[in-house]
Amino acid sequence: MVDAIGAIGESIAHERSPTARMSALAIGKLGTSFGVEIDDIDVRRLNPDTESGLKAAIGEHRVVVIRNQSLTPTEQKTFSARLGPLVTLPYIKPLDAHPEIIAVLKEADEFKVSTFGSWWHADFSYLEAPPIYSILQAIELPPRGGDTLFADLCTAHDTLSAGMQRLLAPLQVMHSGAVYGTRAVADGAYGRARGVVIARGDPAADFERAHPLVRIHGPTGQRALFVNPTYTTRIAGMTVDESRPMLEFLYAHMTAPALTLRQRWRHGDLLIWDNRAVVHLAVNDYDGHRRLLHRTTAGSERPYSPATSTID
Ligand SMILES: [Fe+2]
Repeated sequence: MVDAIGAIGESIAHERSPTARMSALAIGKLGTSFGVEIDDIDVRRLNPDTESGLKAAIGEHRVVVIRNQSLTPTEQKTFSARLGPLVTLPYIKPLDAHPEIIAVLKEADEFKVSTFGSWWHADFSYLEAPPIYSILQAIELPPRGGDTLFADLCTAHDTLSAGMQRLLAPLQVMHSGAVYGTRAVADGAYGRARGVVIARGDPAADFERAHPLVRIHGPTGQRALFVNPTYTTRIAGMTVDESRPMLEFLYAHMTAPALTLRQRWRHGDLLIWDNRAVVHLAVNDYDGHRRLLHRTTAGSERPYSPATSTID
């Protein structure tokens, strides 16, 4: 049965992109500037042409939804490892049998608690080499709600004035895992879902790390804003108070509705995004229902900027 949300998703026009023409993948655009869906592949059986086409699509479009997948944890890890070395993350307790997989879980009896990742962020942006690809598979979904929102950091950069771009290009900003969950909880929640166990006092997360405010997105060569209200603490060389006006402006600019995309989850969806070029959040609007997703993380890269223009 196709529900209303599914019908809306299926009514999206399938425009053929350059990647689709090259690789013969059936790719439908989801957003104006980024995001596509693919519904004719099985990621457990990728031939070399399909795999290269899929990788090109991820590089070009930054958010890719692959429909109708149902992967075991081992299959999800095997697929994820095709995108880059699997990353075992600090700070979050993984599945006992699969240390490379995080269960993103909120139980049906958890009311008014925060969903993991419920404010805008790039995954683990405070690491020295933050993850590139996050891969999220729907395991159990609420009947409605629990969507994931994305915002496009490349278009966010490109729609700033030339003067602002010049001002931002040489700046660095500080990121820290220690501030997760201590601010910017927008939904009135007063606790965190018990399904995601976060280690506090983890030295791998509890420090400030400087990254370029503007980074290069390697696959496209575009410039992307690399700040987020979950982990960014301040502009390097400035106090928190001094940094706040500029950072608040950037957060509002980069998450303007015109730059966002909404993933309405369907059973079987496998979602891949590039943390170098997008931020995301989980909408916490499904109290009374269980939501479980499995996340893997692949590849990592030390952000590099137009100022340095090198990877080191
Ligand atoms: Fe996340």
